[in-house]
Parts: sequence; structure tokens; C-alpha cells
Amino acid sequence: MDINIEESRTADRRDAPIGVFDSGVGGLTVVREIMRNLPEERIVYFGDTARVPYGSKSQENVIRFSEQIIHFLQTQDVKAIVVACNTASALALDAVEQELDIPIVGVIGPGARMAVESTKNKRVGVIGTESTIRSRTYDRFIQALDSEIVVFGKACPLFVPLVEEGWLKDSVTEEVARRYLSELLRKDIDTLILGCTHYPLIRSLIEKLAGDQVHLVNPAYETAQELGRLLERMNLQNTGEHNAGREMYQFYVSDAAEKFGEFANSILPYDVTRARKINIEEY
Ligand code: DGL
Repeated sequence: MDINIEESRTADRRDAPIGVFDSGVGGLTVVREIMRNLPEERIVYFGDTARVPYGSKSQENVIRFSEQIIHFLQTQDVKAIVVACNTASALALDAVEQELDIPIVGVIGPGARMAVESTKNKRVGVIGTESTIRSRTYDRFIQALDSEIVVFGKACPLFVPLVEEGWLKDSVTEEVARRYLSELLRKDIDTLILGCTHYPLIRSLIEKLAGDQVHLVNPAYETAQELGRLLERMNLQNTGEHNAGREMYQFYVSDAAEKFGEFANSILPYDVTRARKINIEEY
């Protein structure tokens, strides 16, 4: 009898959604990878569009914002949480994971692991927001796995507004990228981590400047893979059996829901018909 109750509880948890959050729209690059790689998983996404960008904020604030968002996601009964934001993963993951009784995955661990696997000459570049690069969290993760690897970081703050403006293949974006990357590319790196949610959207431009000899690592893709392995290990993967009639994907924001919807529709393989605005300060 007890065993049956326990089994049905586990089955319920398998059907529960994954909570994914970011400072705004960028985390949709992670959602896109989860949709592609784990199509049976339901998702509740929160984008903190009222308080974006996190990339120039203090650690104290990023921790406070992340805690509030996690409290909100817990009200949605999520079975696991993905911190899609590189900045929040770099500054807040350590602090927030201690209080949680469900699994939580950030983007930095998976991205760092792939970079370690990829590099042959042990010279890795990381690009990201000012806060991510200053925190040196990627460096720490990489060097914990292989202390001989040298990591070169470069903050590229203008990429976020350029991507949000939709200037993905624009000559202005290319010129900005050239300036940001020129010094880094002279360091003889063979691997470059796209350490910010927005950068996979200008991947082809970065690829063009970096050349064939530099392997680009997309932490969004690696995180979806890691999430899949984690759910399997914990027997939490959704089989899809009970998905019929349920909302697969729900989107919440703290401001500008309409603009969010437009951006979401430009990058997701799914029609986002609405994003709900909530007051995140209440959580
Ligand atoms: N989502 C952020 C990141 O991946 C970029 C935007 C921001 O600065 O909030 O670091």
C-alpha cells in the first residue's frame, strides 16, 4: 500500500513543470534548447523584465531577485529549477541552492564542463556580462576540473541591447564584436564560451570572427543536456503520458509582457500567445 502511494507521488512529480528563470528575455535561448531536447517537459518561465539587466547589478541584489523568483516558481509547484541567466548563476546559485529541496541547475557548470572537454591547448576564452566576468565563476569551475587551463575573460555589455534590438547580423554589431573580441582572439584560445544568454543569437557572427580553429561552447545547449541527465537520474523525467489537456509552456514576466511575447515568438519553436505580468516584489 505505502509503496503504491510512494509510486504515485513520484509519477505526479514527473508530470510537474520545470521552472526556468532569467533577468529577461535572454533565458529563452535556454528554453529553446529544453523544448528541442526534452520535448515532453513542461516549462514555467519567469523573465524579470522590470529589473533587467542583472549584468551590471551587485551580487546582493542579484541574490535577492533570484530568491524572490524561486519563491514564485515554487508556488507553481515546479519539480526542478534552471537558472538560465549566466549572471544569476555566477552570483546567486551558491546562495540559493542551500535553501532548496528540489534540484537546481545553473548554466555555468554545464558550460564549463564542455569547455574543459573541448580545449586541446588548455586556453579558454569566456565572454559575458560585466558581473559574470568580474565574478570569475567560469574560471573557478573550469580550474576545479583542470587546474592547468588558463581562462581569459572579456565583458561584452553592448551585445545584450544589440541583440534585443534585433541587430543580429548588422554591421554595427559586427564592428562592436570585432572590438570586443580582437584582444581575446590574440590569446591563442581554442575554445570560447558564450557566457551570456543573448550570445547564442549572434553565434554566426562570433563564429565568423573567431574562425574555424575556435570551438564555441553554448551553455544553453549544455544545460538542457545536463537537465535531461539529472531528471533521469532522479527518476523525474516526464514521459508525456499525462500531458494531454495541460498547458505545456507558461510565461511570466515582471513588466512589458507584450514586448516579451514578440521577442519570444521570434526565437522559440512555439507560438507564445500570452505572457502574464506579476508583481515579483510580493514573493
Ligand atoms: N541574462 C543575462 C546573462 O545571461 C544577460 C542580461 C542581463 O544583464 O541581465 O548574464
